Amino acid sequence: MRDLKREPIVPGPDTLVLGIETSCDETAAALVMGGADVLSSVVSSQVDLHADFGGVVPEIASRAHLDVLNPVVARAIVEAGVDEPRIDAIACTVGPGLIGALLVGVSAAKAFALAWDVPFVAVNHMEAHLYAAFLEDPTLEFPLVVLLVSGGHTMLVEMRGHGDYTMLGQTIDDAAGEAFDKVARYLDLGYPGGPAIDRAALDGDPEAIRFPRAMIDVGLDVSFSGLKTSVINHVRRHPDVSSADVAASFQAAVVDVLVTKARRAAAQVGATGIALGGGVAANSLLREELLGACATDGLQGFLPSRAMCTDNAAMIAAAGWYRLGSDGPSPLDTGAHPNLRLPLRA
Ligand code: KG4
Ligand code: ZN
Repeated sequence: MRDLKREPIVPGPDTLVLGIETSCDETAAALVMGGADVLSSVVSSQVDLHADFGGVVPEIASRAHLDVLNPVVARAIVEAGVDEPRIDAIACTVGPGLIGALLVGVSAAKAFALAWDVPFVAVNHMEAHLYAAFLEDPTLEFPLVVLLVSGGHTMLVEMRGHGDYTMLGQTIDDAAGEAFDKVARYLDLGYPGGPAIDRAALDGDPEAIRFPRAMIDVGLDVSFSGLKTSVINHVRRHPDVSSADVAASFQAAVVDVLVTKARRAAAQVGATGIALGGGVAANSLLREELLGACATDGLQGFLPSRAMCTDNAAMIAAAGWYRLGSDGPSPLDTGAHPNLRLPLRA
């Protein structure tokens, strides 16, 4: 058998990477050629399993990943129309995420790498979200500002090259997706909260209630915990208020803050454009407002398709392809890291 640790492969346009993602409540596998050409992307969501609990239950998530990972990988291979020996490398999320959930994917990915005698590549889930934009447009130009907004993170990152990240700003309390989920739960709009608020807001007036835009005038950090409290206080004081108006006004406040900060970040670092990533990047108003702002400021706006914004394995395969080129294969004793951070420029 080849020594998987020592024999780097130089990824090229024909290098086919199998991506595996199990960090939270989506079991996903995808085949991506050359870091950008998505041959297949299969996502099995556990939303129904967690809905009754109003959030992800880690033990249920791990067990569900175990049940469906092999069929999901098999389907990704069939849908791509390739034979297993054609696969050149296995890329898998090793963190951040739920430890039990991560371990299912990491163990399977290493087993596939050993069985098929191909390199294993450890992928940082946050870095993969940054790479979703490159799936749609591999020619993106640096420096680029990426607004990464997910259930667990909210950050503005400057990308000066592949793997070259500077943190420009982040949330000092709740992540944007967390705020969407908590407000939706309070309004009884359903789970997951982001898409529920997005839908409810369509029938509401975004100017009905002027919710606070914390820290909007200075800096690049954001804060959403006060906004969430303000929504709760407003509904307590006005029990008959329309949920659609609350949803639309809340969403308008979040988007106003995010777009203002992203524009400020782009101006500060002289970025060529702004890319979106993470589950909240699927939000209709955020997409519309960001594109409008980029057009006004003479910047390029890159919006991955909604399916590539939320958790998927195509972004893992894409990030894995780039990491294979920069770092080579990862050792097979690489562990899972629940609190893994984005590797920042020193
Ligand atoms: O990136 P992601 O799929 O998983 C994490 O890595 O966290 O993001 C999930 C988050 C959830 O908080 C969900 O409510 C939010 O993304 N989300 C949305 C929308 N779709 C998903 N938030 C606002 N509008 C949406 N359309
Ligand atoms: Zn994610």
